[in-house]
Amino acid sequence: MAVAVDSAKYLLDEILPFLRRVEEGFALIGICYAGSVTVRFLWKVAKGVRVHFWSKLWRKDLVGNYGKWAVVTGSTDGIGKGYARELAKNGMNIILVSRSSGKLEKVAEEIVTEFGVETDIVQADFSLGRHVYDNIARHLKDKEIGILVNNVGMMVVPKMFDRLTDEDIWAYVNVNVATVPAMTKLVLPGMVERKKGAIINISSEVAHFSLPYLQLYAATKSFVSSFTKAIGAEYSSAGITVQCLEPAGVSTNLNAFDERIHRPGFFTATPDRFAASAVATLGYSKCTTGYWTHGLQLSFLQLFPEWFIVMGFRYMVEFSQKKLK
Ligand SMILES: NC(=O)c1ccc[n+]([C@@H]2O[C@H](COP(=O)([O-])OP(=O)(O)OC[C@H]3O[C@@H](n4cnc5c(N)ncnc54)[C@H](OP(=O)(O)O)[C@@H]3O)[C@@H](O)[C@H]2O)c1
Repeated sequence: MAVAVDSAKYLLDEILPFLRRVEEGFALIGICYAGSVTVRFLWKVAKGVRVHFWSKLWRKDLVGNYGKWAVVTGSTDGIGKGYARELAKNGMNIILVSRSSGKLEKVAEEIVTEFGVETDIVQADFSLGRHVYDNIARHLKDKEIGILVNNVGMMVVPKMFDRLTDEDIWAYVNVNVATVPAMTKLVLPGMVERKKGAIINISSEVAHFSLPYLQLYAATKSFVSSFTKAIGAEYSSAGITVQCLEPAGVSTNLNAFDERIHRPGFFTATPDRFAASAVATLGYSKCTTGYWTHGLQLSFLQLFPEWFIVMGFRYMVEFSQKKLK
């Protein structure tokens, strides 16, 4: 009986207070964790509001801040055409660099008539590789290039890697990868000399994921994001703005093979709406999706581990392909 009383006393006097202290310790860790999650969440929301909404309240002096001319690659359709139009609307002269001569002339004429700025066109098929840059360089010479938009990009329909042709592989390398550093090399010395300029590289939300069936496309976009962030850090003190854009769905020819992504809606922007929103973010974010619902979508996807996204994408493609058979 006396031993039992001693044990109960020991429990009450020593162990219970100890357990209470442990409990308080865990509660403190929980509060700190919940606090840090809340702060990070609020910070993300505040950043999103600043980049996607606040930025639109002020009209920017793009010519004064960066220079007279903008160069846009892949500018005869989709996002590139949207960018060219939006920059012209802000008073910039535009150099359109793209593949099809007829489309180049048509877009240039449209821009001159609608916005009253100057244009120049350069026909270049970037898939042909290195030699196309000499002609582009001739057109850029003697012009004050304020903004370069490295937009051109291609994507073949999702397929297993061994089904890609050698031409597909080299086109991905030449169009999606090589254009970004090669065009940057053409304009950067002038920007550094003038201590102003902006380089906008169009990557993609998929840069964050290794996507089965879109393996090369996603990998080329990871390159664009990585390269952009690196040179952004190198040239930030030289007065050059380098921006990485990682959009999700925009209704263009690129994704016309899949009606679910192609149809404009809450998550899929039209090229003009996307470009208007993305141009407004220049100077507000070094890396952004450029469009607020794309920002929501990326934040949501980033809540999941990458393996989950990879598996989900794999099953989605396999399911769509079975339905098409
Ligand atoms: N659409 C989306 O949902 C989405 C999402 C994320 C990122 N992106 C990225 O945004 C960029 C633009 O895509 P988009 O959807 O606007 O594509 P798009 O509608 O297919 O337009 C591509 C533009 O690039 C030109 N082009 C294509 N291949 C070329 C080549 N070999 N040489 C020269 N010009 C060439 C096209 O010229 P032609 O007129 O001669 O065809 C066209 O003007 C790409 O980098 C893409 O990866 C798109």
